[in-house]
Amino acid sequence: MEKRNNKKVIIKVSNLSKSFNNNIVLKNINFQLLEGESLAIIGASGSGKSVLLKNIIGILQPDKGSIVINDTEMVNLPRNLKEKLLLDLGITFQHGALFDSLKNWENIIFKTANKEKINNKQGKQLAFSIIKQLGLQPKILDLYPSEISGGMQKRVAIARAICGNPKILLFDEPTSGLDPVTGSLIDQLIKTAVKTVGGSAITITHDMASVCRIADKVILIDKQTISWTGTPKEMFNSTNKKIQEFIKPINSEIFFK
Ligand SMILES: Nc1ncnc2c1ncn2[C@@H]1O[C@H](COP(=O)(O)OP(=O)(O)OP(=O)(O)O)[C@@H](O)[C@H]1O
Ligand SMILES: [Mg+2]
Repeated sequence: MEKRNNKKVIIKVSNLSKSFNNNIVLKNINFQLLEGESLAIIGASGSGKSVLLKNIIGILQPDKGSIVINDTEMVNLPRNLKEKLLLDLGITFQHGALFDSLKNWENIIFKTANKEKINNKQGKQLAFSIIKQLGLQPKILDLYPSEISGGMQKRVAIARAICGNPKILLFDEPTSGLDPVTGSLIDQLIKTAVKTVGGSAITITHDMASVCRIADKVILIDKQTISWTGTPKEMFNSTNKKIQEFIKPINSEIFFK
């Protein structure tokens, strides 16, 4: 396995470009996610953050470039192999994407049930053990996603992502639309999920408080490419104009005393 600074390279994106007709969204994106690292991706609305994530997991095909996950090239990987590899990842989408026809507990254990035989009692028990860390009541387990609030759906989607302790976590706006208390609960969970299993995470977020809480490294996408990289602390000291626009509304002393 490829290493950098003595750490395994978990995801390596090289020269990735993606356009939709005449709309160039991403141009020559290069970055690596190392083992044990929590990476935050920031950028204006419409800058291509979700498109980048969808390319990484193969929902979208890049026009150019390479995406290697755990030493496997994802671009042009046959669908069955791609799906198998994705079962080892914990992913949340920006807009939930829960299975409407499955109850919440069935949604949460979906990947685990795909990998091993698990009866209903065990399944519900497993789902319950996860949702209690997310401040959700057991009664939601037997309901369908349409029967719970948007913020609850978001947490069910996070529960589904972390079920089975995957070592690679990819979150698209996991705290948007949540109240600040629930938001910081989710941040804590992401941090714990990364640290306890020695995993790695990529989190797309607009929330600078979240960035400070969860990220070791920050990537800014601007003008179709990665225009800045640094630690959260470097972000607050940066003279980069775009970075300053992002952090302007925030008093960094709250986070870095
Ligand atoms: N399937 C698609 N077909 C055509 N254009 C698309 C598609 N998906 C995304 N785009 C375009 O790609 C650009 C980037 O979209 P993307 O969803 O990645 O933005 P984002 O950075 O995630 O924004 P936000 O912060 O609002 O979620 C937008 O111009 C969008 O219209
Ligand atoms: Mg998005």
